Amino acid sequence: MRMIWKLVPLALALVTIEIRAEDDPERGRALYAPCAACHGVQGEGNRSLNAPRLTHLSPVYVVAQLQKFKAGARGGSDASDSARQMAAMAATLADEQAMYDTAAYIATLEGGVSPVSIEADAEQGASYYRQYCAACHGPAAEGNPALNSPRLAGADDWYIVAQLQSFRAGSRGSHASDRTGKQMRVMAGVLPDDAAVAAVAAHIRSLQE
Ligand code: HEC
Ligand code: HEC
Repeated sequence: MRMIWKLVPLALALVTIEIRAEDDPERGRALYAPCAACHGVQGEGNRSLNAPRLTHLSPVYVVAQLQKFKAGARGGSDASDSARQMAAMAATLADEQAMYDTAAYIATLEGGVSPVSIEADAEQGASYYRQYCAACHGPAAEGNPALNSPRLAGADDWYIVAQLQSFRAGSRGSHASDRTGKQMRVMAGVLPDDAAVAAVAAHIRSLQE
């Protein structure tokens, strides 16, 4: 058991530095300028605009989400106002290379984790997390690219709650072409109630201390 925990930080480090050779963070810097208005100069996020922290996400996941927003698989007509706003922004990125460059730039940013904003039973949340979430997102919420499952450690707690509620309500993850969103939607539905959603978010937030 002790061995496994020693390996976890190593795995985290490998996930966050994975950038393709052809991706150019310098080109991405200019493309990110309009994004900073909502996500912050360091990608730290801005709760008053419902714009999440981005710096904990792997470039591959950032690009996958930008593609979904641009194609309308996330942030389409049945989505939240926040997601629709974001879809309009993704449409300004010309092509996939522009998305990869922007994601490569985001990977250089240093926006820290936002303060704890929800009070809930993190221990109960840990139990839900082990039972329902760890298989895909990893025991330390480090993510698993092979399963398209993003890193959750370091995400804003309020954003985790908002996304779980969107999945539960079907405003995220119900578009016909959103295969991975559909998978996650099923799992969000397994949590029994709002208290369970808050508890699991509190647990995930505690992993980043
Ligand atoms: C007008 C404000 C605004 C601007 C500008 C903006 N975003 Fe967003 N972004 C948001 C909001 C709000 C969300 C959350 C959407 C939701 O609730 O589903 C979001 C979500 C995202 C996500 C998904 C994160 C996740 O964990 O699921 C990514 C990636 C992202 N934005 C990248 C960008 C990039 C890159 C740009 C610039 C091209 C950008 N955003 C510009 C408001 C904005
Ligand atoms: C079967 C694998 C699987 C399981 C189990 C699973 N997830 Fe996910 N989760 C995913 C995938 C895949 C995505 C990415 C969805 C997408 O591409 O839009 C995701 C996305 C998310 C997101 C959105 C993150 C972001 O930044 O956009 C949150 C929050 C989340 N999961 C929380 C959980 C929680 C909490 C549980 C346990 C109740 C859980 N997941 C169980 C596969 C899974």
